[in-house]
Amino acid sequence: MTEVVIVEDAEVAGRLAADMIEHLVRRNPCAVLGLATGSTPLTTYRSLAQRDLDFSRVRAFALDEYVGLEPGHPQSYRAVIDREVVATLGLDPAMVRVPGDDGVLDAALDGPLEAALEAAADRYERAIETAGGIDLQILGIGANGHIGFNEPGSSLASPTRVKALTRQTREDNARFFASVDEVPRHCITQGLGTILRARHLVLLAFGDRKADAVAAAIEGAVSSSTPGSVVQLHPRVTAIVDEAAASRLR
Ligand code: F6R
Repeated sequence: MTEVVIVEDAEVAGRLAADMIEHLVRRNPCAVLGLATGSTPLTTYRSLAQRDLDFSRVRAFALDEYVGLEPGHPQSYRAVIDREVVATLGLDPAMVRVPGDDGVLDAALDGPLEAALEAAADRYERAIETAGGIDLQILGIGANGHIGFNEPGSSLASPTRVKALTRQTREDNARFFASVDEVPRHCITQGLGTILRARHLVLLAFGDRKADAVAAAIEGAVSSSTPGSVVQLHPRVTAIVDEAAASRLR
């Protein structure tokens, strides 16, 4: 079931999502979190950073990572998560995983490397299982309806795997790079099936650029052309959106 909470702005949404994470971590100090990157979850992470909460035994898995950035690149999702989450909340860096962080990401994608990346994706999927699965998964949504980097056309049951990024997603993310040409063309992303196995999905979206994607995900047909629509197959989803992102909901 999807509960939709419409709030005035991203700050209020971040506080609400942070309340849910706080509740979980107080109940279970060894909780497993699923972390989104991009702009949307920042108010959540910043609200958490202001609370007196012990994250030292919390484990976390990032949703996705670019392929092809040099190690330590400031826009790699490993670096973003280290900066915005690990350092500010006091997680143990060894307990925070990012797809491909076992050493295969820092090269361009070609034949033999693709097999190594797919093997890393399989290992990531198994690492999530071994951790007991994700308790709470934070999700943003792309203007084209992607969640994680599951672009339109992704199988609804997909596992963690290598994907090509669409031109639109690369253009949307060019704001973090000097130009769109620097945005990687490939990524490793948790699949839609992986995301569906998390026990609670918290989907955040702000601004009118997300309004069509939010309406299609929450109220449209469940279809691989709107990857976010898989949330309708999940028993526990909280969508926290501002009024602009909610404006096309009926
Ligand atoms: C990021 C991710 C993506 C983003 C989406 C929205 O880890 O998986 O699905 O959540 O592209 O990005 P922002 O929040 O920057 O609008």
